[in-house]
Amino acid sequence: MIPRNTVDSITNTARIDEVVGDFVVLKKRGVNLMACCPFHGEKSPSFSVSVTKGIYKCFGCGRAGNAINFVMEHESMSYVEALRYLAKKYNIEVVEENINIEEAKAQNTERDSVFIALNFAAKYFHSQLFESEEGKNIGLSYFKERGFRDETIEKFQLGYSLENRTSFYNNALKNGLTEEFILKAGLISKLDNGEVMDRYRGRVTFPIYNLSGKIIAFAGRILKTNDKVAKYVNSPETLVYHKSEHLYGLHLAKIAIKKNDLVYLVEGYTDVITLVQSGVENVVASSGTSLTEGQIRLVTRFTKNITVLYDGDAAGIKAALRGIDMLLAEGMNVKVVLFPDNDDPDSYCRKVGGTAFEEYIANNAKDFILFKSELLLDEVKQDVAQRSNAIHSIVESISKIPDPITRSLYATESSKILLVDEQLILTEISKQRGVRTREQIQRVDVQLQQAQQILNEVAKDQNQEKAKSDFETGVMRMLLKYGAKPYSDDITVAQHVVHDIAENEFQLENEAYHKLLDVYRTHIEEKEFDAEFFFKSEDPIISKTSIDLIYDFDKHNASSNWQLKHDIAVPNPEDNYKLSIDKVYSQFKIFQIGKLYKEIINEFEALKVDESITPEERIHKENELMHMQMKVKAMERSLSEVTGTVIPR
Ligand code: CTP
Ligand code: MN
Repeated sequence: MIPRNTVDSITNTARIDEVVGDFVVLKKRGVNLMACCPFHGEKSPSFSVSVTKGIYKCFGCGRAGNAINFVMEHESMSYVEALRYLAKKYNIEVVEENINIEEAKAQNTERDSVFIALNFAAKYFHSQLFESEEGKNIGLSYFKERGFRDETIEKFQLGYSLENRTSFYNNALKNGLTEEFILKAGLISKLDNGEVMDRYRGRVTFPIYNLSGKIIAFAGRILKTNDKVAKYVNSPETLVYHKSEHLYGLHLAKIAIKKNDLVYLVEGYTDVITLVQSGVENVVASSGTSLTEGQIRLVTRFTKNITVLYDGDAAGIKAALRGIDMLLAEGMNVKVVLFPDNDDPDSYCRKVGGTAFEEYIANNAKDFILFKSELLLDEVKQDVAQRSNAIHSIVESISKIPDPITRSLYATESSKILLVDEQLILTEISKQRGVRTREQIQRVDVQLQQAQQILNEVAKDQNQEKAKSDFETGVMRMLLKYGAKPYSDDITVAQHVVHDIAENEFQLENEAYHKLLDVYRTHIEEKEFDAEFFFKSEDPIISKTSIDLIYDFDKHNASSNWQLKHDIAVPNPEDNYKLSIDKVYSQFKIFQIGKLYKEIINEFEALKVDESITPEERIHKENELMHMQMKVKAMERSLSEVTGTVIPR
């Protein structure tokens, strides 16, 4: 076995023009080198070598690859033989390991500068906790009082910001940060008179992380009891922080959530910290606000099962009810746990310890619908009008559940609790769902017309025969070119596309693309993919396909034309990749959605004339189809989110 870094060293050192040039006479043409193809007989050159990309491609016979592939193919060598050949050519010792792959230099973009400021702040606040007298006496002793151990303080990088109004600010300037980025990171606030103040002064600090573990914001808790000042000061919205799209603790919890196939949702930072310290790791906090769609989308990536842990206070629970309906609409199984007396998850867990805590949850978790039924009914007692409101509200929750079987089970259960005829509840549910579905069907029709419009345009630009596979080709090409770039705060382009394909269960028709996608899927959380990773693959199908896709990327990337047509401003072509991704991926999605939609319509038609089934089966099937239709519709909705600016209206 040749060690991985030796392989890297060989592939990094071998220059394609030098390797090919040993066998073929290359002539410069434009940015590339050309020759008559050594693999098939030809008189005019169609064999092209790109030195910058390190790859070759023959436009005559279609052979393509990197330096290693060339040697393998030309000299009929195995992969390892080709590596040895190249190692010899370049005097690389095959057992040596100390190879320095040149790291990409940090780009000096705004976002990066903001991240740097945030990181500096986290380190500074954290060090104050242990190194300054004030930090030790006030911050550290507070955390100790709350029972946070040293390793927990480390894990969450808790800190302390001194009382002095500018001690952080001055220190940051001294260390080379500029006021612009300290301000953009939300770390200071600036008064109208130009005076600057540390935002978290005199507070203990909690860094807030994104999914990949980067610090994107802070929260600062005041230690004195003072009704005039808010208990927490939170970071403002910044370039890298959008409050509604984060869940506190998710970066630490994600693996445990997957493993347990369950997430606990709590309200506060301190709840998360205490639970994690007690060994309960699958926990995230909504940070005191009601859940947002963005937050829900984040957790549904990891599990469908959520248990909401709130303190016993009824007001808090009622405020949470709306958010919980949204969980139901995403098809999540929702349970609720209340804590006795005045305990919240934090205090209860500290009282009884992690094991007893989880036992308590297991024994007391109540199904949300049943919980809500009891809660509301308890409140309204015997008042008839109020009772009817309560029933409507519960029916509304049930009707959000996408799965028809689950819905009907709930109808039965809640009819028992509410003492209402089950049939009445069922009728109410279909009424509520009926309203939505009709609206949805109308919207889908409109959207499909728009989709068709785009399809027509795409078809005009492309050979219609090939259009079908071109959609997926386009997606794969974008994935290779831009996969490692950021798509939003905490996901890369590759993560966005691969998750979306998986989530919607889209099937690719091209086998080789399937394979590429599998590689992405397997490593999606831990790797930042770029095309070179695939060029260098030991699997010839993968390296060839990836090279084929990206070889003449610019020729295929017709975005400029398309943007002109739709009058989309392109200030900076480098930033423009997101637009290209959204465009190409939307085309692919429109095609997939169209396919699904046609299937559903066909099945509806078939169902209409099918006389062999019982009425119950028919209702069940119809429900199923409506459910599918809603799913397609949800896809379509998320599609119009990204194409909002580009669908011609
Ligand atoms: N919160 C906030 N601003 C406030 C109060 C609360 O942002 N002025 C958010 C915080 O995310 C907090 C959560 O709501 O963690 C829950 O509030 P609370 O239970 O009051 O705070 P805890 O973090 O539990 O604080 P503690 O236990 O120290 O009182
Ligand atoms: Mn608390």
